[in-house]
Amino acid sequence: MENKRFYITTPIYYPSANAHIGHALTTVLADAMTRYKRMRGYCTRFLTGIDEHGQKIAKAAAAAGKSPQQYVDDMAELWRSLWRVLLIGNDDFLRTTEDRHIRGVVKLFDAIYQKGDIYLSRYQGWYCVSCEAYFTERQVGAGYLCPDCGKSVEVIEEESYFFRMSKYQDDLLRHIAENPDFILPQSRRNEMINFVRGGLEDLCISRTSFDWGIPVPINEGHVIYVWFDALSNYITALGYAEDDAPAFDAYWPADIHLMAKDIIRFHTVIWPIMLIAAGIPLPKQVFGHGWVLLDSGKMSKSLGNVIDPLVLIEKYGVAALRYFLLRDIPSGQDGYYSESALVARINADLANDFGNLVSRSVAMVERYFAGLVPAVDAYLPVDLELRSLAEEVTLEAGTLMDRLDFSGALAAAFRLVGRANKYIDETAPWILAKDPSARERLATVLVCLLETVRIATILLAPAMPNIPALVWAQTGHRPDACEHWEQLAWGGTEAGQKVHKGPSIFPRIEFPS
Ligand code: MSP
Repeated sequence: MENKRFYITTPIYYPSANAHIGHALTTVLADAMTRYKRMRGYCTRFLTGIDEHGQKIAKAAAAAGKSPQQYVDDMAELWRSLWRVLLIGNDDFLRTTEDRHIRGVVKLFDAIYQKGDIYLSRYQGWYCVSCEAYFTERQVGAGYLCPDCGKSVEVIEEESYFFRMSKYQDDLLRHIAENPDFILPQSRRNEMINFVRGGLEDLCISRTSFDWGIPVPINEGHVIYVWFDALSNYITALGYAEDDAPAFDAYWPADIHLMAKDIIRFHTVIWPIMLIAAGIPLPKQVFGHGWVLLDSGKMSKSLGNVIDPLVLIEKYGVAALRYFLLRDIPSGQDGYYSESALVARINADLANDFGNLVSRSVAMVERYFAGLVPAVDAYLPVDLELRSLAEEVTLEAGTLMDRLDFSGALAAAFRLVGRANKYIDETAPWILAKDPSARERLATVLVCLLETVRIATILLAPAMPNIPALVWAQTGHRPDACEHWEQLAWGGTEAGQKVHKGPSIFPRIEFPS
């Protein structure tokens, strides 16, 4: 059998106590994609982690009255447990203070240095500590504000090592041109082509005014610039530092580096050029999704308006939050969060459409066939129409998930759910139940419904991985009923299977509560 592998990464986040639903979106999207790819037969590897070095973290630690190491140790636990609660099935969690990472960064720095692409000079310019990014006088403007986050920038002047990025401008443009899927969506790709065409400057890759970072191997008075350090995580996590690195050999180049659009520039300019310089193949795709916005604008710690995913999970459950993020933030575009929009989604899709379909279908098999799934008699055109919609939607959802369009894929799955609810009204099983000569017809209708429930549940599984077990407990399908994409084929509900009506999977929510 062909050995299919899939390696996906999220950014490594700056650890703070303010993880919010924006971070959750990237991580849930990567998780859903991984689960989908696994169903499609891939050996998957999913990496996330935290970005622990640099001036921003050193400052945050000082403000918290802790040593940087103590601060990041405490935060690491917080982030790990957040991902557990969000049902994130990452295979690895990289911390940039780990030895395997530090040795990998040093190896990469060395490879680029040996190539002659790193030189010592002086940096004089502007720096945004919040974004950990350098800007020119023109970019910060008269107000000396960061063009990305709007905060005040600092002037810095220090001896620095520089990375000869400018030398690789044409190589990068050629790679982008030859690989149309390297930067997605298309809008980000165009933005980046324009940015690179505008001219690349050499990048300052070391700092001397603080010491919370990885020392430059050839000059211990410098620490490596935090983005050079952080970007390397995608290979250091695969054992790049080691002479013998089976995970690196098996999984690199990565299939998808996933992130929001704000950090696309670092991943499509600095990172590929680091790799080209070191002679390492480039990732296959960098995908920049949109932001989760609030009606009042962007979430930010300084505005004190960040939305904590744990609070929402406590109130509405993890499946609902994951579903909302994937469904309401359209692929590649910004989307809005509000509690009322979340509740509206839960009520309309999860409670009214999906939850009701499950409970009505199960209840009717219980009532009319004593809880034992009957055998199909003969399909009528209305049944065949439902069946071919299931096939169509499966195909469509697969194509959309392949493009990371979970919003579209979930909308497709819900077209099937909606059609099945309408099918109940059209076939009116309660009327068939009164007619002893319609017993076979009633049996076929109920099996068609259970089949649709089964197929919809499988399609929703990457988004809401805890839901299939709850559905199967009621419909009597086996626990391993959603491990492979092939299980979406019509016909997986068996005569004699026992159904058992249980509590409502998604109760309706009154809002405001
Ligand atoms: N540490 C760097 C990344 C280094 S990767 C080699 C960093 N960290 S961060 O904590 O600021 O996280 C940035 C990422 O968080 C974004 O790219 C995105 O994936 C996610 N998001 C942060 N705010 C977001 C929204 N409001 N909406 C959607 N995603 C958001 O940058």
